[in-house]
Amino acid sequence: MLVDVANPLDFSNGSMKLFVSNTDSLGEQIQREFPKARVVKALNTLNTSIQVNPGLLQGEHDLFICGNDKKAKDEVTKILKSFGWKRVIDLGDIKASRGMEAILLLFMPLNQAFPDGYFNYHIVSKKKS
Ligand SMILES: NC(=O)c1ccc[n+]([C@@H]2O[C@H](COP(=O)([O-])OP(=O)(O)OC[C@H]3O[C@@H](n4cnc5c(N)ncnc54)[C@H](OP(=O)(O)O)[C@@H]3O)[C@@H](O)[C@H]2O)c1
Repeated sequence: MLVDVANPLDFSNGSMKLFVSNTDSLGEQIQREFPKARVVKALNTLNTSIQVNPGLLQGEHDLFICGNDKKAKDEVTKILKSFGWKRVIDLGDIKASRGMEAILLLFMPLNQAFPDGYFNYHIVSKKKS
């Protein structure tokens, strides 16, 4: 099992861009390069303190994971829950890394608004009737 926390960030030419996006992702590239590794993408949009201590933030907030191997995702989810993560949202196979990495395009401006880096996302869904 390999937990991929990386982001394809390219800061050359003075601005940030993703060096892989849209039709591919780092998560997929790692999985292709190491076909036997059960790659789970997780934690890429959080500073390291929050990664292992989600209680540092107030209120509810969520974590995304994706990967091709259900058992590996279950194992990672168990570890994440031991860190205190309450809701780990499984986005499907490793292709979902494209979206998880593209969040960095939003994360960077948010990091200007919250310069200490202590923020995260919370997904809400339809009210239960
Ligand atoms: N820091 C965070 O809060 C955070 C949070 C979420 C996700 N991430 C992601 O995690 C990844 C690492 O972040 P970081 O903050 O740990 O970065 P970092 O402090 O800059 O460390 C990067 C490491 O990668 C090594 N490295 C760079 N290019 C390499 C290459 N071509 N071959 C082998 N090793 C290479 C560097 O080695 P040298 O020291 O020898 O150059 C260094 O040890 C990034 O993709 C980042 O987006 C970071």
